[in-house]
Amino acid sequence: ASLQPHNTFGIVARARTLVRVHGEADVQALLAHPELGPAPKFILGGGSNIVLTGDVKATVLKVEVAGRRVVEERPNAIVVEAGAGENWHDFVAWTMDQGLPGLENLALIPGTVGASPVQNIGAYGIELQDRFESLDAIDLVTGRLFTLDAAQCAFGYRDSVFKHSPARDSDLGLAGRALILRVRMLLPKPWRPVLGYLDLQRKMAETGVAEPTARQIFDWVCAIRGAKLPDPRVIGNAGSFFKNPTVTPEQCQDIIGREPGIVHYPMPDGSVKLAAGWLIDACGWKGKSVGKAGVYEKQALVLVNRGGATGGEVVTLARAIQTSVYERFGIRLEPEPVVV
Ligand code: EPU
Repeated sequence: ASLQPHNTFGIVARARTLVRVHGEADVQALLAHPELGPAPKFILGGGSNIVLTGDVKATVLKVEVAGRRVVEERPNAIVVEAGAGENWHDFVAWTMDQGLPGLENLALIPGTVGASPVQNIGAYGIELQDRFESLDAIDLVTGRLFTLDAAQCAFGYRDSVFKHSPARDSDLGLAGRALILRVRMLLPKPWRPVLGYLDLQRKMAETGVAEPTARQIFDWVCAIRGAKLPDPRVIGNAGSFFKNPTVTPEQCQDIIGREPGIVHYPMPDGSVKLAAGWLIDACGWKGKSVGKAGVYEKQALVLVNRGGATGGEVVTLARAIQTSVYERFGIRLEPEPVVV
């Protein structure tokens, strides 16, 4: 099966076997299969956070679990649930249509609901973990269903228990082991807008709207993202390609001494976050290419497929960027997508 329609980079690659998963019964049937049951498996959601560098030999499980519903109303929150195969943005839009605010800052993030906890998606002042209630998953070794709360997901900046493999990183890692089936979100009551981000402050100043509704924020976020992030349906990409690095205040002072214009934000824990896009831009990479892989013209943090790029070209470009940022600033950029 071709994987090109199943990765937002639009890279050409094939899977020997692709199994569509609509619910736990599909997984249990697969596990009972004499050949496929014990063989290696690869979980694929919307494919918005992967770089495929070749064909995938493992059995690809394409998660297509559907459904959206309001689970319960609590005194201080509403719990909503979606199947892991639902498109994330469509889910956010659905909550808006239901008059359930809380996810508006996370509009237009590519990918599926099931992928959202894996990298703890975040934008414009809200991370998934701020609205997360729990999720249901199935163990790909035992076939056992289980539920995890936020603490058990071990969320970090673009990180969770699902990004760590038990062998390599920590005993608790679930990478490749757990297939997420359903995710429940907690929408706090009463709703409070999150407007701290500079881009949103600018929208408020431009429009003169001081007390926006959730729908207004949703529309602003869509407009802001649309203006600087490429639509994966038009230009293949995986969103931000690198995480924003954090440094100590001393390191930051040292860099500011040499680079007064550097974009930096103090963090609650005392560290300082640097804008990776600025670092890459400062090294002159914006608009540059390696083969058919390129750096997006409007946002240097996003690598794009200019048409027919291979995963190898994307990885080569990413390494070249890492090298020049390291040579100039002494900072190691860490990729955000998973290289397969
Ligand atoms: N900048 C440049 N040149 C560039 C790109 C950015 O100078 O080419 C500067 C901007 O001027 C700005 C700063 O860098 O001052 C930060 O840029 P921006 O506000 O666009 O946000 P970001 O740090 O690039 C992060 C997330 C995005 C998220 C936005 C908004 C990461 C890795 N990225 O981007 O998440 O949408 O903030 O909250 O944390 C994603 O993870 O895929 C993603 C798109």
